[in-house]
Amino acid sequence: MANIDKNKLVFFDTTLRDGEQSPGATLNVDEKIEIAKQLSALGVDVCEAGFPIASNGDFEAVKRIAQEVGPLMNGRTSGKPMVICGLARAVEGDIKRAYEAVKYAPCHRIHTFLASSDIHLKNKLKITRKQCIEKSVAAVKLIKSLGVDDIEFSPEDAGRSDKDFLVELLTEVIKAGATTLNIPDTVGYLMPEQYGELINYLVTKTPGADTVTWSTHCHNDLGLATANTLAGVRNGARQVEVTINGIGERAGNTALEEIALSTYMHKNFFNVYHHINTTHIYSISQLVIKRTGMIIQANKAIVGANAFAHESGIHQDGVLKCKETYEIMSPDLVGVPSNLLVLGKHSGRNAFRTRIETLLKDSNYDTKFIENDEEFNKLFRNFKKLADSKKKGVTDQDLYALVDDFLNIKKCNEFYILKSIHVTSGTNTIPTATVQLIDFTENGNIITDAHIGHGSVHAIFQAINRLVCVNSVLRTYELKAITEGSDAMGRVVVRISEQNDQKNNSSGNVAILGEMKEKERLGNKTADVYRGEGADNDVLVASAKAYVNAINRLMSAKNRQNGSNNNIDTNN
Ligand code: KIV
Ligand code: ZN
Repeated sequence: MANIDKNKLVFFDTTLRDGEQSPGATLNVDEKIEIAKQLSALGVDVCEAGFPIASNGDFEAVKRIAQEVGPLMNGRTSGKPMVICGLARAVEGDIKRAYEAVKYAPCHRIHTFLASSDIHLKNKLKITRKQCIEKSVAAVKLIKSLGVDDIEFSPEDAGRSDKDFLVELLTEVIKAGATTLNIPDTVGYLMPEQYGELINYLVTKTPGADTVTWSTHCHNDLGLATANTLAGVRNGARQVEVTINGIGERAGNTALEEIALSTYMHKNFFNVYHHINTTHIYSISQLVIKRTGMIIQANKAIVGANAFAHESGIHQDGVLKCKETYEIMSPDLVGVPSNLLVLGKHSGRNAFRTRIETLLKDSNYDTKFIENDEEFNKLFRNFKKLADSKKKGVTDQDLYALVDDFLNIKKCNEFYILKSIHVTSGTNTIPTATVQLIDFTENGNIITDAHIGHGSVHAIFQAINRLVCVNSVLRTYELKAITEGSDAMGRVVVRISEQNDQKNNSSGNVAILGEMKEKERLGNKTADVYRGEGADNDVLVASAKAYVNAINRLMSAKNRQNGSNNNIDTNN
């Protein structure tokens, strides 16, 4: 076993695995690589890139992250590349598949798990405690026999497992060669004191405990994931399993940003250090919001829109006199961009260019368009249109939305681009939408159609459905004002799936959606879900853009479909 630094807190990020298990947060391979690159630059020590047996898409993503992100050293103050980890159940097929995916990374890990609580052993796995130990030991030995020496084991539902059985199981797993022992509170059940005591019990009672790294993995069902993780650290855990913005199954996982800042602000209390570059936190949080479509609440700690806003007169007065009166940390510490330079309708091309360059400097955006006069002018015209309609000026958030929207159009222009919409609606009118699209499947012809709907958005989507050669069904629709005020910009995120039942093309959407969800609940093969996003200061235009964006993704996935998903049921 390599030397363990007793004060180093290892950040194990599982945004791309447990985080991606959030309903509707599906990411494509390119999006996963983009996030993984930012995780590496952020200073994350271990990246759980996916669950390779789950689908060919997951396998491909883990393999490409191992190849393309595994060797990167950019911004890594630890002096070591990020470890690329793949998840595997304690079975041969999973482990071999995980190995095939992660082996390309200079530093790689396999994380294997098996449930240990009686509830899971009796009802789900239908095996005895003795069999649980045998399977776990066999899994760890198999990983070792593949030449992997960075091995993590998790007794799933440890939070509700018998403590002495855990000691017995973990003793054997250490002997078999595990190097990190992760203690999941899978269902987010424990109180901080209880979770802390559990870690303490295992660390003090398990023979060989000081030869391994102990890890926390907390879910947020009672809103205690961060508190539980910190209790684990206080009691000897030196790895934390976290996700950006706390995304994950049900109520989510522990938020990376909350642990990074808590342990940074209270270094002496926790007596640990880490290699997270806190100034990258805001930009990666924004990236994860954009790519997963999982919007965070305004009062979310560290990265929420209001996290550094002071509204009440007394607070504003205090902060103006001395920031520390109401600010425990500066927005710069987490990389919150300053909105001090407000661009407006009188701003010129140069001011606009400078602001865009500054904003995108350390990001993973493909910034080639800045150097291309024709493209940059197009973006500048969009900016002018937006600035004209905004009384309070254009903020950084507006600019991000503008660039996102622009790049989305550039990426997907092989199928359809929204040209225009016209909507009539009101109290005594049937909502009707007329939509024009540029159709790149037909040499860029402009195609037009109209439809009525239950509401304006429904009418728009139905009109688009008639125009494109895809039968799709809307699964979720989210609308968020990105900036403040009545002239705020709106971002819409939609999720759609393909509807194979041709008979129900235009009006049966709700019934079809119900049927698909039921199939999903029963673990059957279901349609893939495609996310689309659009931003505009007219929410109907934003909705149309988002829907067309999702259609484009669905169509490009269909084009590449060959065996992209084997839909293995990965329930243990
Ligand atoms: O919550 C959990 O138990 C997990 C395991 C796979 C570690 O995510
Ligand atoms: Zn989990």
